Amino acid sequence: MHREIAKGVYYVGVDDHHTELFEGLWELPFGVSYNSYLIVDEKIALIEGVKDPWVDELLDNIREIVDPAKIDYIVMNHMEPDHTSALPDLAKIAKNATMVYTAKAAPMQKSFYDVPLKEKIVEDLEELSLGEKTLKFVHAQFLHWPETMLTYLVEDEIVFSCDAFGSFGALNGKIFDDEIDMGMVESESRRYVSAIITSYLKFVQRGIAKVQDLGIGIRMIAPSHGPIYRKDPMWIVKKYLEWSSPELEKNAVIVYGTMYGMTHRLAVNLKKELMNLGVEVKLHNLSYSELSKVITDTMRAGILVIGTPTYDAFPFPKVWSFVNEMQGKRFMKRPIALFGTFGWGGGGVFKLRKMIEAMKCEVLEPVVRVRGRPNEQEIEDCKKLAKVIADRLK
Ligand code: FEO
Repeated sequence: MHREIAKGVYYVGVDDHHTELFEGLWELPFGVSYNSYLIVDEKIALIEGVKDPWVDELLDNIREIVDPAKIDYIVMNHMEPDHTSALPDLAKIAKNATMVYTAKAAPMQKSFYDVPLKEKIVEDLEELSLGEKTLKFVHAQFLHWPETMLTYLVEDEIVFSCDAFGSFGALNGKIFDDEIDMGMVESESRRYVSAIITSYLKFVQRGIAKVQDLGIGIRMIAPSHGPIYRKDPMWIVKKYLEWSSPELEKNAVIVYGTMYGMTHRLAVNLKKELMNLGVEVKLHNLSYSELSKVITDTMRAGILVIGTPTYDAFPFPKVWSFVNEMQGKRFMKRPIALFGTFGWGGGGVFKLRKMIEAMKCEVLEPVVRVRGRPNEQEIEDCKKLAKVIADRLK
């Protein structure tokens, strides 16, 4: 299925309802779309590809408009395989096409696919005439890989923004912001930002500032995942600016692991104490909360409260994994409160503290460490810790 989004400009992308975990990590309860766009002018340009199992559907969509053998340019804003792994099969049909990408994309293309098509390396702000329409390429390093660029269709004022302004969630034929449940778009795009772009938030801010400085008109934002914004293109820009802001929120988020409920009891106790002190608090049991939702809630939390049982003399594996994710996602530094339980030797909270201190984050005192069930003194320590957290958030 294709849809014309402007005169001579077509959506030819596909929906993926099969992949359960995006990047092998992130749940896709509503699927995901791989958006691809075809511009038909004197020259024919395809902007972005799809993941390889969907290449036939992409080609069928293109055939509804033109013979794919006639494609002159395949513009690849970004080399990640969710957009490019169809390239080898595409190249067998669009034999005369020239691949258009940045200099940094060229070695990636060679190492991933090495397809026998001509290539055109484009500089920042370089233009390419298709006849009546003109493409302008805007380098957008680390949005979200180093080779990434955006493509601007000058006459129609459409930004093909690649991963930027993208969202999880398949489109099911409703490709525009005015055709779709925007409540779902908001939660799925926020989860997408948390999962995919958290490590590169400062590049989001820089990329948006760069486009704003160009002073170009923007009638439509057409990302490579999720809906096209035509009713209110600035809606998603404002959301991305908000979600990538370096400001921490005035709240606390408790994340914890638990095996038999002892650490859970401490977590719930801390939550109650914090709520009694008027602190806005969220709680995630890492065995049950989906990781992208945990990252969504924790990435800008004013204070993180992490709890762990001792497991094989180390922190609980899911807690350990979350702390690794904090490092990989380059979480901003902030005070961190710790609590945990153990049955005999302990070690989980001690080692967790070392991990947090190695990240140069302040550990708030007291660290609440409980053998078995919390006694009165330890319940009192929870109260003290809650008070310290509340005071810090004032
Ligand atoms: Fe949708 Fe970074 O790929």
